[in-house]
Amino acid sequence: MGDNMSKIEIHDLNELISSNYPQSFVEKLINDVLLLSLEVKTDYPDYKQWYTTIHVPGLYDGTRNIIIAHIKDKIVGFVSLKKTKEEKKICTFYVEKRFQKNKIGTILVERAIAYLEEEKPLITIPLDKLHEFTRIGRRLGWQITDIKENLYRIGSPEVIVNGNLAQETTTQNKEIKQLVRQYRIQKIKTLLQNLKLFLSINQN
Ligand SMILES: CC(C)(COP(=O)(O)OP(=O)(O)OC[C@H]1O[C@@H](n2cnc3c(N)ncnc32)[C@H](O)[C@@H]1OP(=O)(O)O)[C@@H](O)C(=O)NCCC(=O)NCCS
Repeated sequence: MGDNMSKIEIHDLNELISSNYPQSFVEKLINDVLLLSLEVKTDYPDYKQWYTTIHVPGLYDGTRNIIIAHIKDKIVGFVSLKKTKEEKKICTFYVEKRFQKNKIGTILVERAIAYLEEEKPLITIPLDKLHEFTRIGRRLGWQITDIKENLYRIGSPEVIVNGNLAQETTTQNKEIKQLVRQYRIQKIKTLLQNLKLFLSINQN
């Protein structure tokens, strides 16, 4: 892998569009990123629609961007971004499994931060993927601010990072484990409550 890694190329779609790169090339990149995103966004049924009707137009009006890592002709990772006055957000951040742990994620997140002009952008991360972000998050001082049940993936909550709520840090696995534990306890309590309610209804 070592040799290949020296051939990483970074493309910034915002820059390509504003420098009048050939439209067909830009469109191919946009489509290839969509195909790669579907690997990681399998559980979000509206993803494709969000991408084509919200994210892609944003690339052209300058409120959104995608920074792409390439090796030869292959996209190996990308980070998609939203930058408005109100919100600086990492929408999706993904490095393909077999290319992970080669510093591609680190390069992408550095470019994302430079573009957003924000070291602690909002990002939501599936709880079961949180550990993959811990080291990047720690280095940048990212903080867990909330945890929300995922609308699409029942039983798989999303962790809100760098939001505006009460702060906890992503810095230690210990804290992540505690968060997961608290979440599970809460879930069991809710389940028991529902069960009690169900039984009492059935008894009446
Ligand atoms: C998070 C992610 C982008 C990191 O990409 P990457 O190219 O592997 O990142 P890097 O190689 O730059 O690694 C950065 C650090 O994270 C660590 N890391 C990478 N993958 C990891 C993993 N699976 N578990 C634990 N740590 C991991 C690396 O060891 C490295 O630590 P160091 O800098 O202290 O040495 C990648 O793991 C990923 O795509 N995960 C899934 C993302 C996802 O679910 N996205 C959808 C929601 S936005």
